[in-house]
Amino acid sequence: MNIQIKNIPGKDCACDALILPFIEGQIKPSKDLGASVAALLRKISPDEFSGKKNEVLLLPAPADIKPGRLLLLGLGEKEKIGPEVLRQAGGKALAHLRTAGIREVALSLPATPGNDLSAVYFIEGGLLGLYTYDLYKTEKETREIRKITLLSKPLKALSDGIRTMEVLASAVCFARDLVNAPSNTMTPTHLAGAALALGGKDVSVTVLERKDAEKLGMGAYLSVSKGSDEPPKFIVLEYRGSKKDPLILIGKSVTFDSGGLSIKPSDGLEKMKYDMAGGAAVLGLIRAVSLLRLPVHIIGILPATENLPGGSATRPGDVVRTLGGMTVEIINTDAEGRLTLADALGYAKRFKPHAVIDIATLTGACAIAFGGEAVAMMGNNRSVMEVIKESADFVNERVWEMPLFDEYREYLKSDVADIKNIGGRTGSLATSAKFLSEFAGDTPWAHLDIAGTAWTEKDKPYTPKGASGIGVRLLFDIIRRMQ
Ligand code: BES
Ligand code: MN
Ligand code: ZN
Repeated sequence: MNIQIKNIPGKDCACDALILPFIEGQIKPSKDLGASVAALLRKISPDEFSGKKNEVLLLPAPADIKPGRLLLLGLGEKEKIGPEVLRQAGGKALAHLRTAGIREVALSLPATPGNDLSAVYFIEGGLLGLYTYDLYKTEKETREIRKITLLSKPLKALSDGIRTMEVLASAVCFARDLVNAPSNTMTPTHLAGAALALGGKDVSVTVLERKDAEKLGMGAYLSVSKGSDEPPKFIVLEYRGSKKDPLILIGKSVTFDSGGLSIKPSDGLEKMKYDMAGGAAVLGLIRAVSLLRLPVHIIGILPATENLPGGSATRPGDVVRTLGGMTVEIINTDAEGRLTLADALGYAKRFKPHAVIDIATLTGACAIAFGGEAVAMMGNNRSVMEVIKESADFVNERVWEMPLFDEYREYLKSDVADIKNIGGRTGSLATSAKFLSEFAGDTPWAHLDIAGTAWTEKDKPYTPKGASGIGVRLLFDIIRRMQ
């Protein structure tokens, strides 16, 4: 998409449609639109358009101005207008215009006082909302918005903001593509290929094979892969844009989770391809950070594997030894994510990180608790969690903290090993994180459970149904705050 900034009045901008945003109940044209637009707007009744949030009305433009049509766009109540309202407006407006076959768009968004960057959020929502996944469709969507002209003074902050947002939105769409890909193509090997493709001058990528992981003693991670013919790939990426201690990001990367021998019911099982959404978010993040050359030091770890119930699969009751030496009794082979993360957390320690954040579609209980509205957060470090919370509110990938009470450790006591991999039905969101905390040790660490938010069943204003790409924008903002 071609995005330009032009300092001309809307009525002089040659385009297929000019977007005119309005505050609810204030359907008055700005002076630079001229008398014909003012006359047109006077005729609009509140029943047709009143400026409610995400309301749209596409009209033919008067003949004496250059745009072909006008899209009236509602922003809702003035007091509530902020980044999120603008993202949603952008998503809604551009998707609506694409459906109408519009190709070239202009936006007349008056800068809100003290904030010249409103258009950046609008573009963010727009680019995210236009995402489609049609790789396997013979008939592709051919309608396309090719050009957006922002009618504004040429501010450097605006053009920089737009450039950053283009990279970030494309990283989110990259992550969505990885997650939407079916598991027969998105195998651990394929995911490793996607990681290797990010390698270059600033990013080094190492893929540990099964024998490497065996030598290191990653018995928990490897136990998950035993029932599958697909070889596991333990993927490590390093982006070194500063000499500081690294921030480590671990993404759960189970490319298909059948549950293993503790097999899942078949209803909805096809969706377990999204069990690598954490890993996809980490790859998207590294892509954005490296393209923008941010002055940060990030290490991404993706312990990729399938979880299948083959003849060599791990059995309930098996005991494995983790990289750190702790033994785990595997009660339920469907609690596999935490096994892969236990060894990834153990591996992370060698880099002496200043903090570790893991992001994982870890528990059904997370989706039960929050639906698609929040990411569950748990951790051992207040200041890391505070930064995450601020970022989450800002990018609207909201997190909600859950407790890590000492008592939860009791739930995980095993009769034969140091710990067992499930704590029973009750408290299972908290005990999944309690399990991980044993492997984080005293490294400053936070865990993000995205089981409820990584996939959406219905279209949202700037998140079409399917993979949401959650985590990329959140991690990106966290890194900017931490740097
Ligand atoms: N990948 C699943 C969690 C999940 C469920 C993600 C639904 C997205 C949607 C995870 O590996 C899992 O199976 N967790 C079990 C743990 C249980 C056996 C303790 C769960 O939550 O049911
Ligand atoms: Mn599972
Ligand atoms: Zn899983």
